[in-house]
Amino acid sequence: MSYNLLKGKKGIIFGALNDMSIAWKVAERAHEEGATFVLTNTPVAMRMGEMDELAKKTGAQVIPADATSIKDLEELVAKSMEILGGKVDFILHSIGMSPNVRKGRKYDDLDYNYYQKTLDVSAMSFHKVLQVCRKMDAINDWGSVVALSYIAAQRTLYGYNDMADAKSMLESIARSFGYIYGRDKKIRVNTVSQSPTITTAGSGVKGMDSLIDFSERMSPLGNADALECADYCITLFSDLTRKVTMQNLFHDGGFSNMGMSWRAITQYNKSFEDGFDISQARDGD
Ligand SMILES: NC(=O)c1ccc[n+]([C@@H]2O[C@H](COP(=O)([O-])OP(=O)(O)OC[C@H]3O[C@@H](n4cnc5c(N)ncnc54)[C@H](O)[C@@H]3O)[C@@H](O)[C@H]2O)c1
Repeated sequence: MSYNLLKGKKGIIFGALNDMSIAWKVAERAHEEGATFVLTNTPVAMRMGEMDELAKKTGAQVIPADATSIKDLEELVAKSMEILGGKVDFILHSIGMSPNVRKGRKYDDLDYNYYQKTLDVSAMSFHKVLQVCRKMDAINDWGSVVALSYIAAQRTLYGYNDMADAKSMLESIARSFGYIYGRDKKIRVNTVSQSPTITTAGSGVKGMDSLIDFSERMSPLGNADALECADYCITLFSDLTRKVTMQNLFHDGGFSNMGMSWRAITQYNKSFEDGFDISQARDGD
């Protein structure tokens, strides 16, 4: 259903790779709500992904940019303003990648070059986007910038590895930059902490299926899916949330405030009935 919440608004959407991507759903919903925007991703992702299909569907242009490169970001922002005919009103940062996770390096055996890459791609790129936009005065007053996070920023979750550190940094950047951008330009900066979701990045996390099952059983409202996440992002880009800034907003069906649910404990008890021996389930993570 469309409410015209973003009528006349312009934006930049980072991170739509394929139709499972959270950013893909945000782009579809933003289009339905009347926004015009530019889509961007790395040149590699553009070759691998299906962005042309999304661009056609939403009337968007695609501009390649590596979000860790200041030069790429400056070109992206300049071209976006040219295409859209002025400053933007919203930006979605939906970017995450850990070479340590990809290569199966555990948290107590990290490759530090990979670790730096994780932090650069998944967290520092958010600062770079904000800093480039601010220097180029690219966002309208009362604009809104959202990045996607995960509860591993606050709580230790098996298998999330160095991405947990990246998400902590990402959320801190939202607070620090949110203060400066809010004070000077009334621009809000928030992170949305989303339920585990089946996407290309999500599937890289060790034990993702079990994690999804566990949080589904634990959350009173169940896991939030990618489309529901998109709906929430749309509200944050809209004028209905003009005083929300510097927040990490949980969009997780209640998971973040649960300790134990009846559904989760029932499943846990079943594991004993089935003769599952927890002491054998050790692999050092
Ligand atoms: N899937 C989940 O379970 C989940 C849960 C909470 C938060 N998130 C976060 O949501 C965001 C989007 O992930 P997703 O799950 O939709 O997966 P996805 O794989 O569809 O999206 C990740 C995107 O990051 C892009 N990217 C990687 N390196 C980049 C770079 N250097 N420059 C620009 N873009 C780059 C990829 O090309 C891809 O489009 C990420 O920040 C992720 O951590 C995902």
